[in-house]
Amino acid sequence: MAGRYGPEICYNLPPKIMCGIVGYVGRAEAAPILLDGLRRLEYRGYDSAGVAIVNGKQIETRKCAGRIANLAKLMTEKPPSGQYGISHTRWATHGKVTDENAHPHFDQSGKIALVHNGVIENYAALREQLEREGGHQFTSDTDTEVLAHLIGSIYEQIDGADSKARLVNATRAALKQVIGTYGIALVHSDIKEFMIGARRGSPLVLGVGKDENFLASDVSAIVAHTRDAVYLNDFDIVAVSRDKFEISSVAGESGNYQISKVEFGAEDVSKGDFPHYMLKEIFEQPNSVRDAMRGRLNTEECTAKLGGLNMTAGELRDVSRVVLTGCGTALHAALVGEYLIEQLANIPVEVEYASEFRHRNTPMSGNTLVFAISQSGETADTLGALRESQRKGFRTLGICNNVASTIARESDGGVYMHAGPEIGVAATKSFTSQVTILALIGLLLGRMRHLSSSQGSRIIEALEALPEQIESVLKLSEQIRSIAKKYVEAEGMLFFGRQFNFPVALEGALKMKEITYLFAEGHPSAELKHGIIALVRPDLPSIFVAPDDAVFCKNRNNIEQVKARKGPIIVLTSGDGAKQLKGIANDIIEIPRAPEFATPVLTAIPLQLFAYHVAVELGCDVDKPRNLAKSVTVE
Ligand code: AGP
Ligand code: GLU
Repeated sequence: MAGRYGPEICYNLPPKIMCGIVGYVGRAEAAPILLDGLRRLEYRGYDSAGVAIVNGKQIETRKCAGRIANLAKLMTEKPPSGQYGISHTRWATHGKVTDENAHPHFDQSGKIALVHNGVIENYAALREQLEREGGHQFTSDTDTEVLAHLIGSIYEQIDGADSKARLVNATRAALKQVIGTYGIALVHSDIKEFMIGARRGSPLVLGVGKDENFLASDVSAIVAHTRDAVYLNDFDIVAVSRDKFEISSVAGESGNYQISKVEFGAEDVSKGDFPHYMLKEIFEQPNSVRDAMRGRLNTEECTAKLGGLNMTAGELRDVSRVVLTGCGTALHAALVGEYLIEQLANIPVEVEYASEFRHRNTPMSGNTLVFAISQSGETADTLGALRESQRKGFRTLGICNNVASTIARESDGGVYMHAGPEIGVAATKSFTSQVTILALIGLLLGRMRHLSSSQGSRIIEALEALPEQIESVLKLSEQIRSIAKKYVEAEGMLFFGRQFNFPVALEGALKMKEITYLFAEGHPSAELKHGIIALVRPDLPSIFVAPDDAVFCKNRNNIEQVKARKGPIIVLTSGDGAKQLKGIANDIIEIPRAPEFATPVLTAIPLQLFAYHVAVELGCDVDKPRNLAKSVTVE
């Protein structure tokens, strides 16, 4: 598939999003295909799981709260049989995590089984109407069951000799009444070898096979069977049989589609020799950072080449303000971007939480350039911010990993990260790729303004040195593991940094919280004395990100302040730093020296490793931390 951001080589990376859907119609037994697909999607949600497989005229359902392993056990005890069916792994939004609330859900007749990703916002009104007018009875607390009932109720009311067309029409009519987001798949026990998929706001991919077809929220679930995929658009409805499919829109028009080749295989979405995806992805960073720069450095003109921005040199030169928006780790990368673009390009930059930006009356001047940063390209808050920014007439670009994502498709241009699939729920390589790309943007904008060619050339040299420097940071993994072992008993941790490394402190704390469940906070080092220092005590370690840079001495003062109050200190430093902190810090992690703008790429990695090793020591589920999902498609 051609990239939305111009002619660069693109990989169809799997969208990462809450909940996973897999559907199959073919000649093979559906159960193992659905189960294998769900396992590959489990990182997206893991509250409960279920399948509905049609056997003759009966739908066989297995579903339960908990991981896919629980469902697999259920399916081994009572194997469902049939050549078509649907399945789901849930990230609960409406209704507790129980067997009853697990998908699939059924309509009143019990003949339609439905799985759903997203939120039906007007479910309460629809449910009330179905109960009042049709005497419908519900067995779960989910919004999804209401949609199943609505489709079933319309199906009963409309005529049509062709039951497939009738089911499509009923689905279309129901979706017209729905406010909210959905990726759905459904089957009807009376309609042989047939399923329907539809999407709005939640991704859905059609996998096109030989005498078999698939539906999935993410191609990684089906890539072992086919590499031909149709990325459905919002408001598409697809009627899928074994040997054909038909795409139309919720409005009733016939849909345009394009079959894309998925450019990665099943091996790219496996853990390889690593015990966890997170560790694999941490170790991929020399390559992912290299790939973020590949073909984008112009050593001749000492600048960056970012054709996907779709902007002329004149337009880039006219930019007077930059707004960077995103959530979580992407927001932290944006904060690094603020320092980067201001320092390299001397343009005022503001960073906005996407969730706040979209609801605020932010005054914006005409020449503001907005970047929505998102690994998955599907985060609802970031997508909302992008749309709000576009509504107000601002050029809004994306920095995305997932080429087929909604943000990539809806933005006015942008830069792909090319980081490869990121499966671990804790974002790692996406952070360093985002920071690298923001440095390229800073370089490009800077070279159009005041940066000299020799300054540009030094920046390029520093960027080019990063992959090798990351290799040497990764060699510290064992040392970091032994430090992690010392602090597993800690009740919490504090992370500090200044300037470029203040956002890295925030990111280090986020990693620690997410995967170890320890209380962790990140702060600018100097904020210590304004309140945080009250927390300092002998059993609460402070981690300082203090490379040998312009603010090292300031950091050292803050380190001394913690030392004076008997707080354990771990320092991440470079150059002369270790010598200066000997005898003050309890543990010192030494990373290679780099110009300060490039340090966040190097300092973030030991903190990723630190959180990882603490989590492993504590026996936590590193790749699937509790209550989280890879990316968040609800508000
Ligand atoms: C990071 O470790 C988190 N899992 C989370 O904060 C994530 O970065 C955030 O939800 C944004 O996701 P996105 O980059 O896919 O938009
Ligand atoms: N809203 C639905 C539920 O709570 C679907 C959530 C999901 O995307 O997994 O069951």
